[in-house]
Amino acid sequence: MPAPVVLITGALTGIGRATALTYARQGADVVASGRHQDAGDALAEELESSGGRALFVRTDVRYDAEVRNLVDRAVERFGRLDVAFNNAGTEGKLTPVTEVTDENYQATFDTNVKGTLLSLKHEFRAMQAQGGGSIINVSSTYGLMGYPDLSLYVGSKHAVIGITKAAALEGAKHGIRVNAVAPGYTQTSMYERATGTGAIRDAINSVLPMGRPGTPEEIAAAVQYLGSDKAGYVTGQTLTLDGGLMAGWPLFPDS
Ligand SMILES: NC(=O)c1ccc[n+]([C@@H]2O[C@H](COP(=O)([O-])OP(=O)(O)OC[C@H]3O[C@@H](n4cnc5c(N)ncnc54)[C@H](OP(=O)(O)O)[C@@H]3O)[C@@H](O)[C@H]2O)c1
Repeated sequence: MPAPVVLITGALTGIGRATALTYARQGADVVASGRHQDAGDALAEELESSGGRALFVRTDVRYDAEVRNLVDRAVERFGRLDVAFNNAGTEGKLTPVTEVTDENYQATFDTNVKGTLLSLKHEFRAMQAQGGGSIINVSSTYGLMGYPDLSLYVGSKHAVIGITKAAALEGAKHGIRVNAVAPGYTQTSMYERATGTGAIRDAINSVLPMGRPGTPEEIAAAVQYLGSDKAGYVTGQTLTLDGGLMAGWPLFPDS
């Protein structure tokens, strides 16, 4: 079976980077994208030395023309697009609802929601033309529950789950599966920014059922499953990867 062609947005750090490396080590052709050319060139080299062929395309997912270019370059270079991982995302700024502005709304929604929609738009175009493919969006446990002062991020990640369902229904007749992953706390720079000091991080970890956050590689493994034929009858779903957090919260661990 030929190596899959896999496109990843926000691939320069964290979950996106781990997923790119996981695929490359298994010989996939990886189209990595992000906003920084130098880091992208370095990642492409690392991916090629890990086993796969690689292409980096500088892309800010907020802009239609840039996402169109990303998908076109992927198909031009590798001939098709089998798997797309729409991972680019931002936590934005903590904002009480009384302080929501156009600016902080756009800072979160343009990347997390519009970026996902634009990615789907162009990936669908390529996948419809070739008769199918698999797309994985990124939500969050904050796409399943709320948190004070985080309404913009929470709203954007809930939106990703709804968009995933609608797109899955549109894709089904074209052989395109669309799913999402919903990571809980995962050990990346976003987690470090969000959890602040060591003391806050320790407090959060102490209420996580497994006593630790997830690793980017654990999320990558789920993305690989959803992207593969093993998930051939799975579409419109959100796979929660949170070490049990949503299974028991808030009763865990003492009651
Ligand atoms: N870590 C967690 O605990 C956690 C939990 C649930 C969900 N998630 C989600 O997982 C995804 C990956 O996050 P992460 O944890 O790996 O954090 P991360 O290391 O901060 O990764 C986010 C990546 O997205 C890129 N990005 C942001 N805005 C972009 C844009 N407009 N266009 C293109 N790329 C953009 C960032 O690049 P720049 O340097 O250019 O900003 C960065 O490389 C995000 O969607 C996040 O919401 C994370």
